[in-house]
Amino acid sequence: MTGGILEQHLVEAVGTAHLLTDPGVVASYETDWTGRFHGRARCVVRPADTAQVARVVHACAVADVPVCVQGGNTGLVGASVPVDGAVLLSTARLTDIGAVDELSAQVTVGAGVTLAAVQERVRPLGLDVGVDFAARDSCTVGGMAATNAGGERVLRYGTTRAQVLGVEAVLADGTVVSRLAGLPKDNTGYDVVSLLVGSEGTLGIITKLRLRLVPLFPGRAVALVAVEDTAGAVALVRTLREMLPSLEAAELFFADGLDLVREKTGLPAPFARRHPAYVLVECAQRADPTDDLLAALGEAPGVLDATVAADVRGRHALWAYRESHTESINAAGVPVKLDVAVPLPALSDCVAALPKTIASACPTARPILFGHVNEGNLHVNVLDALDRAEPVEDAVLRLVASYGGSISAEHGVGRAKRGWLELSRSAAEIEMMRGIKRALDPGGLLNPGVLLD
Ligand code: FAD
Ligand code: MLT
Ligand code: ZN
Repeated sequence: MTGGILEQHLVEAVGTAHLLTDPGVVASYETDWTGRFHGRARCVVRPADTAQVARVVHACAVADVPVCVQGGNTGLVGASVPVDGAVLLSTARLTDIGAVDELSAQVTVGAGVTLAAVQERVRPLGLDVGVDFAARDSCTVGGMAATNAGGERVLRYGTTRAQVLGVEAVLADGTVVSRLAGLPKDNTGYDVVSLLVGSEGTLGIITKLRLRLVPLFPGRAVALVAVEDTAGAVALVRTLREMLPSLEAAELFFADGLDLVREKTGLPAPFARRHPAYVLVECAQRADPTDDLLAALGEAPGVLDATVAADVRGRHALWAYRESHTESINAAGVPVKLDVAVPLPALSDCVAALPKTIASACPTARPILFGHVNEGNLHVNVLDALDRAEPVEDAVLRLVASYGGSISAEHGVGRAKRGWLELSRSAAEIEMMRGIKRALDPGGLLNPGVLLD
């Protein structure tokens, strides 16, 4: 163990066993999920509750040492790894799950609880979390709130922000702010809960969350639908949205992405023919929605082929084609990852323009696109382009901005997109954000270099 005065205070706060200084152990916290972003931590500290987090942050503030926060380390914008020399605060031990309030459909959970653990706790009670995505076994609710994660159910329930009714958090000087009553109506001034959601660990360390829960619908049906192109996908989703109140998810991927997924996972072809584009949709309600889904697909425009599953195994098998994209892409190499959104009417033009835009920045690049179609949210993953990462990022993000889009739809800005923030936010907005950061963290100690420089 490093014998500095700060380390002594950290040991007093969390106990010797939870201050990690062995370089071999610390190394496992220093690289992000994609393998692209790295940082050297001074040490890793693993507090067990809010009071311990407050003691750690206070000690770091007194020593003027930055604190970087890490949950499940599944973030995709380089924000979950430390800056060199920082104390890395892991939320891995903040894992309490409170009693489920079935009447209000709410639960209070520790920030380090994984999404899957909350699902496991509330589903037997007929309740569910309104956000879901493939990293569920590793990502934490604290990380989801900090990034305002989106995922596969935004169409029905909105982003994580809509699920967070309260937070407890530790500010940069060690002050604890606790707002966990979960009142659906509470107009008593600035919305500090909402401010912390999406702040990417730059304004405070979330230690607990009060989550809104949604009904767990027992009737479910998933369809994988082959379509001609992005315009066909958008038209299909529009029709299904109008015809199916039970529509919960609408995901888009393309032939080259499916080829890669099948190569890396060994999954069988979903159809006898290879089609240009695919939309995966899920409906959920009390009764089995299969007949309604089939009827809607019968009337919807541009359906080239479709397969529907209502049983759990069949549904998971269809979801695997979509959810395996991220891991399959990483298995093919470290990608340049972009997560953009454009207004839905521009989605088709944007998808058509992207290959040429990317090729102009890196002729050898191999783009794989997929995303959440209803929100115009595209995941632009570019393989074989790491040595031209910045020109590729710049070309794609400027294209997206030209459509009035967002340079980060759901993963956050992190360190990866910081240089392009002005493409999505006005100078006045950025100055307002800087003002908030200065007010809450004047020393710039929390997650330095994330979101703002
Ligand atoms: P981390 O990666 O540890 O941290 C992410 C950010 O949050 C960092 O800035 C960190 O400092 C901050 N942070 C973490 N915990 C706290 C806390 N308690 N208080 C304050 N700040 C904190 N994202 C989506 O939006 N939609 C998707 O569909 C989606 N799918 C994914 C699929 C895969 C396979 C993978 C690997 C990732 C996916 N992601 C998705 C990205 C990622 O899972 C989310 O951003 C997730 O919310 C991060 O949670 P985490 O606990 O891993 O956070
Ligand atoms: C997804 O929707 O699967 C994710 O956001 C992950 C990714 O972009 O790779
Ligand atoms: Zn996504």
